Amino acid sequence: MKFLKLFLLLFVIQTQAQQGGMWIPSLLKGMNETEMKNLGMKISVQDIYDVNQSSMKDAVPHFNGGCTSEVISPKGLILTNHHCGFSQIQSHSTVDHDYLTDGFWAYKMEDELPNEGLTVTFMVKIEDVTTAVLEGTATLTNEAAKQKKIQENITALSKSLPKENWQENKIRTFFEGNQYILFVTETFTDVRLVGAPPSSIGKFGSDTDNWVWPRHTGDFSLFRIYADKNNRPAAYSKDNVPYTPKHFLPISLDGVAEDDFTLVFGYPGKTNEYLPSVAIEQIVNELNPAKIEIRDKALKVADGFMRKDNAIKIQYASKYASIANYWKKWIGETQGLKKSNAVAVKKESEKEFQQKIVKTGKEKEYGTLLADFDKNYTEIAPYAVARDYFTEVVLRNTELLSTGYKLYQLEEVYKSKGEQSFNDRKNNLIAGLADFYKNFNATVDEKVFEQLIELYATKSPKQFLPKGLVNVNAKNLASEVYTKSQLKNYAGLKQLLTGDAGTVLANLNNDPGFLLVKELADKYSKEVAPKYDELNLTITALQRTYMKAQLELNTESRIFPDANSTLRVTYGKVKGYEPKDATVYTPVTYLDGVMEKYIPGDYEFDVPAKLIDLYKTKDYGPYGENGKMPVCFIGTNHTTGGNSGSPAIDANGNLIGLNFDRVWEGTMSDIYYDPSICRNIMVDIRYVLFIMDKYAGAKNLISELKLVHPKKNKPLKNKKLKQK
Ligand code: ARG
Ligand code: ASP
Repeated sequence: MKFLKLFLLLFVIQTQAQQGGMWIPSLLKGMNETEMKNLGMKISVQDIYDVNQSSMKDAVPHFNGGCTSEVISPKGLILTNHHCGFSQIQSHSTVDHDYLTDGFWAYKMEDELPNEGLTVTFMVKIEDVTTAVLEGTATLTNEAAKQKKIQENITALSKSLPKENWQENKIRTFFEGNQYILFVTETFTDVRLVGAPPSSIGKFGSDTDNWVWPRHTGDFSLFRIYADKNNRPAAYSKDNVPYTPKHFLPISLDGVAEDDFTLVFGYPGKTNEYLPSVAIEQIVNELNPAKIEIRDKALKVADGFMRKDNAIKIQYASKYASIANYWKKWIGETQGLKKSNAVAVKKESEKEFQQKIVKTGKEKEYGTLLADFDKNYTEIAPYAVARDYFTEVVLRNTELLSTGYKLYQLEEVYKSKGEQSFNDRKNNLIAGLADFYKNFNATVDEKVFEQLIELYATKSPKQFLPKGLVNVNAKNLASEVYTKSQLKNYAGLKQLLTGDAGTVLANLNNDPGFLLVKELADKYSKEVAPKYDELNLTITALQRTYMKAQLELNTESRIFPDANSTLRVTYGKVKGYEPKDATVYTPVTYLDGVMEKYIPGDYEFDVPAKLIDLYKTKDYGPYGENGKMPVCFIGTNHTTGGNSGSPAIDANGNLIGLNFDRVWEGTMSDIYYDPSICRNIMVDIRYVLFIMDKYAGAKNLISELKLVHPKKNKPLKNKKLKQK
């Protein structure tokens, strides 16, 4: 008995310590399957991914390239986050019918709103193509030549490998160039907005609560995929019909309890779990602080205007949210990396790694890897910092400059490709920038410019500063640029772009906004980019070798490929955590917590009157639990940006939640995953249903769903276990 207990204890420690990882769904057989079963999974890995029959993966499309969604009805209804559908909801909103503030519900299919440019992509098939991609590269010693050959092979294979004509072949690298996998995909472009709660539910807590537990956000929105008469992808048409999916997720009404198995299925974007310590030091000490400071200033300016002017608030809501999101994440990540001593931990394992190299006699192959990393990271540092300043100030946060940069590229197109290409690009810009200017306010941007140019001039590496910014008076420069540049509104832009190439280029080179961008961009592209790219190529090659070495030498630890926007499975349990001394977080939040945070009229913490009524009358229908309404829960699933909107699935393959965030103490999980504090945050699916049904009265949508009760007839045995 004693032994059994010890064994169980060891087993628990083992599985807990080992959690984390984002796995390729076609390769779960073996170690993953065993672990998932041990954690409580009842379905088989074929239920998740099967090439020959429909399986769970057929219900989990990529949403617009950056988020995940899941099919929840036989009529192509999909669920994703409110923040993933945010710009679509915004684009249908005006001050008069403001769906961001009030929510939107289509009570009939005719009312569903089309969204130009929105895509939903299904993954049809996964296949390893490493040998074919690496063909003819073994003899190439020059890294650039090798990468070129690989790119050529990828292009050729994407064309030649079999697929249906409405499908696409996409080849992605895994383990930093050590493995290549083909994905056959199908992309739908007629995707219509079906429902969204008001922001006071879908974005409740806004930026204050973002990346934070305990959380009370109903972060969901609903869309529907439309297809042609053959159920294939087609451009928007009135004649299109709701898509019939190969699979859709049943929804469990039985909720979650601590230690329940959970699986999150989606498209994580990018992680860097295998960086050397020197790279992490650079992120913590140099890159993150620079980016944080820049966004801090940009956000404060925008916030000041948004609070005073409702039209600006709508114009800037989406941009603000996206800038604030990573600003806050970098702050949390930096803190977490420091607190968890990630650098020291990595240094320690690098020591062991070095010893292993000696022990296994691999000095020739891997002996200088870590020293080479040190050398190259030291050398790249000023270029990397300069690059971040250029990207954040010019390309990302000052919009007159980022527009100016598009015109700078236009001039480059003329120089390298001639008049025809120039005209094509010019016309595209004129059409494409119309939407941009709708959400642009020159007064706001001028203030941002002033602050960020000041930072650029004083904080970015001096050796790369263009002459015009040395000792610049940012306020005077701002006033000069925003008075005289034609880039400050759409009419001005169109005028600048009127005429033949000669006229346009002459006009551009007379515009103070354009000229400033040109000075910045010239300096950057001549003195920063080439050296940065060169060093970065070396680092990438080192990283590939380092990855190979880890796969070879660290045979006892489970190594998963870094996220790369391809479909992955991550799994774990519903679990609370202890963020700091004497503080324990439980894993489930309730509507009571929404009311605790309620601040009438506040733009982050207001609560809609109808929700307050439902709370008072406890009118939760079948969605409540013991008289309470669950809202969010957390688990040990290893997720990252791109996993938003991912389904959280129970042991039986039913939908129980909707992933949307991670907890503050664990935001460093992209670089260093610590299973004791890294948690993903999900909306409880019952809260989604409650809002759809009781709050919005969208019975039409509820009736499309397949609601199930997997736990109801559960044997007593499980209950006993929980009491220990
Ligand atoms: N942090 C979450 C993610 O990375 C949610 C972001 C949306 N919310 C926000 N307040 N910006 O996407
Ligand atoms: N909120 C993120 C997303 O949009 C998810 C995360 O970073 O945890 O994908």
